[in-house]
Amino acid sequence: MDAPALQLKGITKTFGQVTALSEVDLEAHRGEVLAVVGDNGAGKSSVIRTISGIHRPDSGEVRVDGVPYDFHSPADARRAGVAAVFQDLALVEVLDVATNMFLGDFPRRGPFVDRRGMEREARRVLDDLAVTVADVRTEIGMLSGGQRQMVAIARAMRSGGHVVLLDEPTAALGVRETAQAADLVRRLRDRGAAVIIVSHDLELVAQLSDRVQVMRLGRVAGVRRTADTSRDEVVGLITGSLAADRGRVA
Ligand SMILES: Nc1ncnc2c1ncn2[C@@H]1O[C@H](COP(=O)(O)OP(=O)(O)OP(=O)(O)O)[C@@H](O)[C@H]1O
Ligand SMILES: [Mg+2]
Repeated sequence: MDAPALQLKGITKTFGQVTALSEVDLEAHRGEVLAVVGDNGAGKSSVIRTISGIHRPDSGEVRVDGVPYDFHSPADARRAGVAAVFQDLALVEVLDVATNMFLGDFPRRGPFVDRRGMEREARRVLDDLAVTVADVRTEIGMLSGGQRQMVAIARAMRSGGHVVLLDEPTAALGVRETAQAADLVRRLRDRGAAVIIVSHDLELVAQLSDRVQVMRLGRVAGVRRTADTSRDEVVGLITGSLAADRGRVA
């Protein structure tokens, strides 16, 4: 079998006295959605930040397509094909959609930004992902929360990432926007990306994910195939009323 698109082995991360992650393993494969769930402070965002090059682990290993990496920055992770979308999105409200999608890496014609090429490419990526934004010259500030989320995901995909990390992508979205974001996640998966999504919305997790990894107090409490588990079991692992079974991987 192919190496997982992403693999964490024994990741430990401390902040002073706080152990955010302790011996965390994780695997995500191409063409699957892995949900990471857990209570507040369980370590979910720390996992995402470690994979995306924001945190360097104290120990343990990050592998992409079987190759070990030591990311020093998000740019390192992006170069390895890891694209992250964070809850605050990091979009610039007063700039338009196309500019936001190319922030930090504008296409150039000689000394100038290739504005037309940029707009064309932004349009192509949005259409490809069936994102409904009428005009790539629209300022981000004019878009709905759901549209912004989609632009942020499209921006992450534009860089060619095949490992896509989403930390609470639907926390601020309404019902319809959440459904649209879920569709976008499915499209990413169907195109062969490994998608890792952090969410407190267990309903969404049940609908969207292929596997669920439960974090508790910085450790892996369990990993299950979504089809083979129940809300009760997942909640039990989250709260600790069910014993953790580190080592068993679905
Ligand atoms: N930069 C940091 N400095 C100090 N402690 C941190 C830092 N980042 C995370 N922690 C601590 O590590 C633990 C895990 O935090 P993390 O943000 O990963 O949790 P989470 O599962 O994402 O929680 P939430 O559901 O509230 O977003 C917490 O105890 C948190 O206080
Ligand atoms: Mg978090």
